[in-house]
Amino acid sequence: MKAVILAGGSGTRLKPLTYWTNKHLLPVGRYPMICYGIARLREAGVRDIVLVTGRGSLGDFVEVLGSGRDWGVSIVYRVQEEAGGIAQALELARPMLHAGEKFAVLLGDNLFSESVAPYFQDFQRQPDGAMVLLYPVDDPRRYGVPEMDQAGGRILHIEEKPEHPASSYCVTGLYMYHADVFDIIDGIKPSQRGELEITDVNNAYAHAGKLTFRELSGWWNDAGTFESLEEASGKLKGVLP
Ligand code: TTP
Repeated sequence: MKAVILAGGSGTRLKPLTYWTNKHLLPVGRYPMICYGIARLREAGVRDIVLVTGRGSLGDFVEVLGSGRDWGVSIVYRVQEEAGGIAQALELARPMLHAGEKFAVLLGDNLFSESVAPYFQDFQRQPDGAMVLLYPVDDPRRYGVPEMDQAGGRILHIEEKPEHPASSYCVTGLYMYHADVFDIIDGIKPSQRGELEITDVNNAYAHAGKLTFRELSGWWNDAGTFESLEEASGKLKGVLP
């Protein structure tokens, strides 16, 4: 399976560090953050990666990752000229994926303590639709929260930062799609904050009864704040040699 890593965005919550570097190149333990995602994808069988980042950061990513050879993968790069949302960043990978192909999408600041290979294998057996990974959180009001149909193992709806969360899970930033996701992106409109939202894409699958999920069994974090960045360094100690 191929994968798309989204490593654009503005990283405003990590200013002033992100004044001089891209969030995904900040250190987590002894490695730049992006390396953990690449290692997880490689472990799950991914060999071809499309990495999307902003114009000002592309050179730095090439400096750190090059062709991907040192990590056992092949990386092609796409430039997101303006941070127009996660779904807009994903759309830039469209020319690299064939009709009907299955692939994973990783938000570059999402870090996992466990192998994601079993989830990829499950998705390979799924005939259509999409799959997301859920993680139990203390305060779901800060996240995209799924309402689940437990019997069917499907998600009925995802609500962003709900006042009254339907569950105590959040939807993490590792998604599995078929290439039909690009037709869905074509059909969504920018949100109130002017971005193409990945939750709108996932809700299109959910409302069609085609969004399955798995619950992560290990630790997960999105290292977008100083607190979570610090936590990640501790939790991922020793994950990379
Ligand atoms: P966010 O954390 O939602 O946004 P951000 O990275 O700009 O940070 P902040 O909110 O502090 O300003 O982004 C989640 C992930 O998606 C992150 O890994 C970067 C990626 N992303 C893109 O690649 N392009 C985009 O346009 C956006 C909004 C995010």
